Amino acid sequence: MSKGCMIVCDGGNGAGKSTVLQSIEHHLIAQGRDPVMTREPGGTPIGEKIREVLLDRGSSEMFDVTELMLFAAARAQHVREKILPAINSGKIVVSDRFDSATVSFQHYGRGLPLNLIRQLNDIATDGFKPDITIILDLDPAAGLKRVHSRGSELDRMEQENLQFLQKARTGYLEQAKDDPDHFIVIDASKPLEIVISEAIRIVDQVVSKSYSQRPSFT
Ligand SMILES: Nc1ncnc2c1ncn2[C@@H]1O[C@H](COP(=O)(O)OP(=O)(O)O)[C@@H](O)[C@H]1O
Ligand SMILES: [Mg+2]
Repeated sequence: MSKGCMIVCDGGNGAGKSTVLQSIEHHLIAQGRDPVMTREPGGTPIGEKIREVLLDRGSSEMFDVTELMLFAAARAQHVREKILPAINSGKIVVSDRFDSATVSFQHYGRGLPLNLIRQLNDIATDGFKPDITIILDLDPAAGLKRVHSRGSELDRMEQENLQFLQKARTGYLEQAKDDPDHFIVIDASKPLEIVISEAIRIVDQVVSKSYSQRPSFT
């Protein structure tokens, strides 16, 4: 069986990840594909329980290293239970956030050592890397405004101060600069239709590349 591929959409809160991912899902379904839509933290029953602990505003006592390990634990389960089986059966996996978020928030935001985070990410993912990570880049203040207008309550991570969210934004841009083969940045302050069409163009490229690499006789 030929392998599938994995596309991640990441970025700050309110940048438009959920909205864009919905359009990507519709687009892939319209092409007759059967994408596996998932998210982090979460994506599995165990991961969703860890998500509740992580995002609960009542978890205000959480230490940075506890937070890091919970994200990693949820990811370890996610990769083994859901992502790798789907990829191995030829599916396209599309995730709302993945390992790039841990580098941005726990290293650039919280200041935990990058080598520790990379090591934990490697253990969690068993060395697996997404084909592409699309970063929706937006000023965190604008993102918070959008979250407010969406009418939802801020979770524990979203209610962090702007300085922390700004550092995380820098973290996404740095990762994209350091690894242009695996990251692409979209200016998420542009009108939604433009952001969506840019994201879909990238998805189409990655999917067609992944399919063209498949041996034609299988
Ligand atoms: N490019 C955009 N321009 C204006 N509003 C947007 C744009 N992208 C998303 N939004 C709106 O901002 C809000 C937050 O979007 P959402 O997809 O929930 O963000 P995220 O999942 O990244 O937190 C939603 O109400 C959405 O309709
Ligand atoms: Mg969202």
